[in-house]
Amino acid sequence: MQTIRETLEQAVTRALIRVTGIEDAKGQVIYASRPEFGDYQANGVMSVAKRLRKNPREIAQQVLDSLDAGEWLSKAEIAGPGFINLFLKEQALSNRAKELLTDPSRLIIPEHDNKTIVVDYSSPNLAKEMHVGHLRGTIIGDSIVRVLESLGHCVIRQNHVGDWGTQFGMLIAHMKSLSAQGASVSSRLSDLEKFYREAKQRFDEEPEFAELARSYVVRLQGGDAECLSAWQQFIEESLRHCQEVYDQLGVKLKPSDLCAESFYNKELPGIVKILNEKGLLTESEGAKCVFLDEFKGKDGNPLPVIVQKSDGGYLYATTDLAAVRYRSADLGADRVLYVVDARQSLHFNQVFAVAAAAGMVRSDCRLEHIAYGTMMGEDGKPFKTRSGDTVKLKDLLNEAVRRAHDLVSDKNPDLPENDRQQIAATVGIAAVKYADLSKSRTSDYIFDWSQMLSFDGNTAPYLLYAYARIQSVLRRLADENITPGQQINVDTPEERALLIKILQFAEVVRQVGVDCYPNQLCQYLYELAGLFMKFYESCPILKSEPPVQASRLALARLTADTLKTGMNLLGIEPLDRM
Ligand code: ARG
Repeated sequence: MQTIRETLEQAVTRALIRVTGIEDAKGQVIYASRPEFGDYQANGVMSVAKRLRKNPREIAQQVLDSLDAGEWLSKAEIAGPGFINLFLKEQALSNRAKELLTDPSRLIIPEHDNKTIVVDYSSPNLAKEMHVGHLRGTIIGDSIVRVLESLGHCVIRQNHVGDWGTQFGMLIAHMKSLSAQGASVSSRLSDLEKFYREAKQRFDEEPEFAELARSYVVRLQGGDAECLSAWQQFIEESLRHCQEVYDQLGVKLKPSDLCAESFYNKELPGIVKILNEKGLLTESEGAKCVFLDEFKGKDGNPLPVIVQKSDGGYLYATTDLAAVRYRSADLGADRVLYVVDARQSLHFNQVFAVAAAAGMVRSDCRLEHIAYGTMMGEDGKPFKTRSGDTVKLKDLLNEAVRRAHDLVSDKNPDLPENDRQQIAATVGIAAVKYADLSKSRTSDYIFDWSQMLSFDGNTAPYLLYAYARIQSVLRRLADENITPGQQINVDTPEERALLIKILQFAEVVRQVGVDCYPNQLCQYLYELAGLFMKFYESCPILKSEPPVQASRLALARLTADTLKTGMNLLGIEPLDRM
């Protein structure tokens, strides 16, 4: 099966090549910008005409004469300087709808060309507890993973957690001194944030402690059993915290997706060796660096990528080079997506460039930094507590559920408390996730409780409510009445617009798989819900005659199926009642 847009793109492209002989001509089919321009429009004629120095309208006419889009078009006409407006045929829409009704899984049309795609996301530092800074990467990454899997790709999740830095020496030192005092270390680790702060304070204020901490780093990296076991205890506790957050968020990351920084530790000397053999290493003040011409500082001086410090320690970039090599060579990735804060973009540009220069990545393996902006507080500065501390993710999610509970209780006071709690848990988490996913990932955004919990606008409560409302209509009219071969009519403009939108779902999902902007899917679902409301107002379902009613019910069911599938791709659980 193909998406409509794909079918039209191929048809126009074929005609364009046939007419002009230009082999790399493209139909450039996009959505029509206005209803009177049809459903889709092809813009490819103009650039080809320019290359041939011919009149675009004449070429457009020849394309029309030669165009064969199977059953899909009722009409195609030339507009303006040489655009082609394409109008879909109702029968073709109904036929496709019938297929979807029998098998809703076909709402998504898998890619023909399946790839192995590694997605590096969430990847918190285990020295501290997950905080709001990890929210975006975790949610956006999870949604991208769901989309890519639905398109038939083989997705390998990599949770590249930070478990191997100088900070761990300090934490081990604190653990050891506590247990020497007879304190229960495991109970103290239940608040990692506090534990980290205490250790850091001692590190900054007590020189002997700092000295000890440094010696533990060296012992840890040298494989000392005692240090390793303390370290392990800390890491396990920290991972338990992460897993709790993942479970509450409904994020698909599992312990088996972990591939921590420490995993690459034994590869690091080899990485430096390769760089040396390729002649890429320069020694600068005792540190081993790679200088590439394309990276210069503000002063015009070349910027180094440091791979080994003068004391022999390795860096974040060294580990990432080892990870690139592993993902390309051992995991066999065709694409590697790094869902990481935009503030690390220089780091990734450098790592990707060094990896390419050193031949550590296959030339047919694409490395992409899927950057995201910062979550801001109402003051327009990075989100913090009133006292200026970072906000624990756990606390933020609990507050979301609490606020959603107030909202649900307001709207539906008669619901039993138990139901209200259940609904609140879904709505609260959905609101936080959707607020994030619906913003363009590359921009910063302001975290705003009242906006995300509103029933108006492009929000989770709005979508969830729209879905629940359709479910209630379907329940009332016993949608078993829809027969397997049910015909969906598109006699009114509202029915037609709604059905076309449903069929375009597959196109949006494909697009998100390409550029990894889930906000396009949110915008789509919001528009879909809006078109359903218009249809529902102007095309009565309850009061219509049986054949019309069955068709409209079927359309309502397809809408619900699409909303549900779409919400699932965003990691949002739909509710049948609200
Ligand atoms: N642990 C890092 C941080 O918290 C993010 C790691 C992202 N992934 C990577 N391969 N560098 O900033």
